Amino acid sequence: MTMADYKSILERERAAYQPKLPSVLWGPVQAVEGEATQSVADQEKIKGLFPSTYGMPVLAFEKSTRRKESVEPFNVGVILSGGQAPGGHNVICGLFDALKALHPDCRLYGFLMGPSGLVDHDYKELTKDIIDRYRNTGGFDMIGSGRTKLEKVEQFEKGLEIIHELNIRGLVIIGGDDSNTNAAMLAEYYKAKGEPVQVVGCPKTIDGDLKNAMIEISFGFDTATKVYGELIGNIERDCNSSRKYWHFIKLMGRSASHIALECALQTRPNYCIISEEVEARNMTLGDVADEITEVVISRAEKGMNFGTVLVPEGLIEFIPTMKDLMAELNQMLIDYPHIPNLVEMEQNDFVRAHLSEKNREIYDLLPDDVARQLSSERDAHGNVQMSQIETEQLLSRMVGHRLEPMIKDHTFPGKFKTQHHFLGYEGRCAFPSNFDADYCYALGYNAVQLINCGATGYMSSIRNLSSPSSEWLAGGVPITMMMNIERRNGEDKPVIRKSLVDLYGRPFQKFAAKRGEWAIDTCFVYPGPVQFFGPSELCDQVNRTLYYELGGE
Ligand code: FBP
Repeated sequence: MTMADYKSILERERAAYQPKLPSVLWGPVQAVEGEATQSVADQEKIKGLFPSTYGMPVLAFEKSTRRKESVEPFNVGVILSGGQAPGGHNVICGLFDALKALHPDCRLYGFLMGPSGLVDHDYKELTKDIIDRYRNTGGFDMIGSGRTKLEKVEQFEKGLEIIHELNIRGLVIIGGDDSNTNAAMLAEYYKAKGEPVQVVGCPKTIDGDLKNAMIEISFGFDTATKVYGELIGNIERDCNSSRKYWHFIKLMGRSASHIALECALQTRPNYCIISEEVEARNMTLGDVADEITEVVISRAEKGMNFGTVLVPEGLIEFIPTMKDLMAELNQMLIDYPHIPNLVEMEQNDFVRAHLSEKNREIYDLLPDDVARQLSSERDAHGNVQMSQIETEQLLSRMVGHRLEPMIKDHTFPGKFKTQHHFLGYEGRCAFPSNFDADYCYALGYNAVQLINCGATGYMSSIRNLSSPSSEWLAGGVPITMMMNIERRNGEDKPVIRKSLVDLYGRPFQKFAAKRGEWAIDTCFVYPGPVQFFGPSELCDQVNRTLYYELGGE
């Protein structure tokens, strides 16, 4: 055994966990076709861009009447794409086990370090000994991940070369909205060309924003939010013990605030910003700071100079005035790609000189570090790297400024000392919860059934997730059904529509009904660590968001 093979006690114990599969996938399945589908918006444009894969029916699997299938062996390739999310390895384990159950000579190839592995022909065969080492583990390190965007014909063609060489019949792309958009483009390209290779996606992202009527949740959200919930609970308990700090905690989630909302439901902080609400109420950053200041003052009046504030990573993008500024900065970065490389003062002067007057005024109000973070390089999909913007620092400084005059004239009855945290990377590679371990395994197992029944351009769909896993439903959803047209990198592009927090939805409504009480009193809840051994009530519980969305009280 090499040092690299050494496993922690939990890793060894957890390897023995057998993920629970929906009963419909226990034996051979048959696909039942639903109605023809259409995209969520921009139907004519999406249809024009995806002539071969648009309008396909939703597929639902049923148990087949045949007892055993006779299948010719076939090969599958798999790609992990984008940010890590707990459970990715179990999707691959599900793929492997389903393939071997169909025929022992089926093979699974992993493309290395994300979509670039397909283009660069960088791959390895995933054999039983490799698979067994990664069962129920966190991380994407079995094959690595990356953010290369697959959108050019040359990339598709390079991919075809290796697909032919390895005799791959099905390519599975495990990713978020951008990566599954890529999966749809590949599927369309290959089908239109008459190539027999099929492309299937799996819904991944801790952000929880890849969901709709057919995809109840993306994998990784459950575990990541439970890890953050544990850490926030620990901070709350520390805060309630020393009673001297306000903790400003930024939480990952590039755009939507699902993570912040879920963590608030788990831990009952004194204040939690929901970006979607900030936008709906047309609030400025100053308005948000004003509200937090009021909570700080109210608690100080009761002798409580401590508390917790949750800040979603994507906040800035939802502040209406900031949105305009960022749209202009995005275009500027396309027109002048050297901006991120300029030194501080030069960058500031260059950006100011090229901004419209209206946006220059807003830019001038930003602290230097935030202005610089907003002008930094975008990722391959044209997204601002939100995790680098220190909004938790910015907001606590703004609250401090608001309290200054009161402190000077002795009208503030307390103290305001702060601590800052950013919870993101800590949760993305955690050991998957039972829910994610089961869900991911089922997504992978199901993806093989989709390939076996000839589907391409579909996303693996496992539903009815608040019921016991044996009752989960399995099938496939055409990816084009989830698409609309959005402006990216200065161009109109077909993309999967992001799911934002629904202000009329049950999770937000539950939060809104209680937050007034949580602000003024100390109602902290301490969820503790994810549990793997013990009663099902403890180990198999689902996150609050999914629970409320699927009707729980
Ligand atoms: P995906 O959408 O690819 O799953 O990634 C989500 C995320 O974790 C965001 O929450 C975060 O803003 C971003 O990735 C960080 O990206 P990186 O890993 O490139 O720093």
